[in-house]
Amino acid sequence: MEYIFGFLPYGKLWRRQRRDFWHHFHPTIVPKYRSIEVVHTRVFLQRLLESPSKLKAHIRYNFATTMLQVIYDIKVQDERDDYAVMVEDCVRIISQAAPGQFLVETLPFLRHVPAWVPGAGFQKAFAAARAAYRELQRRPFAEAKRSFVRDSRDPDMQSSIAGSLLARSGYVPGADIDPEEQKIMENICTITIIGGSDTTFSMMQGVFKALSLYPDVQKIAQAELDAVVGPDRLPEHEDRDNLVYINALMKEILRWHLPIPIGIPHKTMEDDDFRGYFLPAETIIIVNVWYGDILHDPVEYPQPDEFRPERFIRDGQLNPDIRDPTQYLFGFGRRICPGRHFAEDALFLTIASVLHVFNIGLPVDGDGRSYRIEYQQSDGMLSYPEDCECTIRPRSAEAVKLLMNT
Ligand code: HEM
Repeated sequence: MEYIFGFLPYGKLWRRQRRDFWHHFHPTIVPKYRSIEVVHTRVFLQRLLESPSKLKAHIRYNFATTMLQVIYDIKVQDERDDYAVMVEDCVRIISQAAPGQFLVETLPFLRHVPAWVPGAGFQKAFAAARAAYRELQRRPFAEAKRSFVRDSRDPDMQSSIAGSLLARSGYVPGADIDPEEQKIMENICTITIIGGSDTTFSMMQGVFKALSLYPDVQKIAQAELDAVVGPDRLPEHEDRDNLVYINALMKEILRWHLPIPIGIPHKTMEDDDFRGYFLPAETIIIVNVWYGDILHDPVEYPQPDEFRPERFIRDGQLNPDIRDPTQYLFGFGRRICPGRHFAEDALFLTIASVLHVFNIGLPVDGDGRSYRIEYQQSDGMLSYPEDCECTIRPRSAEAVKLLMNT
């Protein structure tokens, strides 16, 4: 775990891993993963059609299978696949040890307390997370190594991130790799899963929650999709520039529901001044992205708790004068989320595709009556909608046919 660069302080090891990670996720390389996203998004839609009540499981599966292919070129056939099960299990166990849930974070002396003492349950959670992390780090990378074939002189032309890392390191199949180098490569692959899994899981639940509560927003978005994409195909990334309302809806979801509402704490490395306040070195800085003057600022965003994509539109175009949530919810400075371009790309395709074929509605009770549960975020550093129950129904028989024929 000491190698997870999201947790490393600024320094040589962090810089090395961050640079290698960014090499695979900067905005000009992200389109390389689009064909994989398209396939997995369509599987996601088909799974929603078959068993809409398993929404959360489908979100997890979609993320795990997309990432297994992008990172390791492992193609999963169904949910019984060994790798799919392993990634989903590991991610679940690791997220159970995510910061913000344990007393030891406020009372650090508890770390010396034996595991059997009440309140020291964090030790078991941490040990399980460490074991899960090791599994996630080693198994799929070993598979990528086994199946590695150098198929081009350009390392970036390999079919996976692991393949490209191996090619760049000069790896020859069967030969030994320097253990330190191998650990770094394994970690770059693993953090792609860890960094993106719960954030995406939370964000997608937020999408379904918002759509179920705001049917009028859905109707406008669907009218735009009908006009731009039409009934004979599903949306593609290339449609994005022509879908102004969907882009506004995306910005609104990134403002309205925040998977990490107070960001990740940063620490000053030297004494500093901020607006007349003296901040000694080592001061922990927590930015309340959700509230205050940022993404729920009632001056910048009137009625900030309302979900209103229109706030980002002026004269039929995206209004550049409205504060862009992507400048805030992905963090700040040199630690800003390096997966943000990938995350936005995938989010766009999923939202547009879901809205093209489904109506998302309020949940219904046993008597068929719909009921409304207002939106609330859970506590903790990683936050989810308290509830994302909803109905997911195909928009029409044609939509079902389109899905089945895809
Ligand atoms: C909606 C989805 C996402 C949100 C809201 C999000 C948000 C964040 C935030 C707030 C940080 C901390 C930034 C800071 O310290 O100021 C972060 C870091 C990070 N994220 Fe994301 N993220 C998302 C998706 C992803 C994805 C899909 C990936 C991987 C492909 C990813 C990989 C990472 C990594 C590796 C870091 C650590 C960066 C470092 O410490 O240098 N994230 N993310």
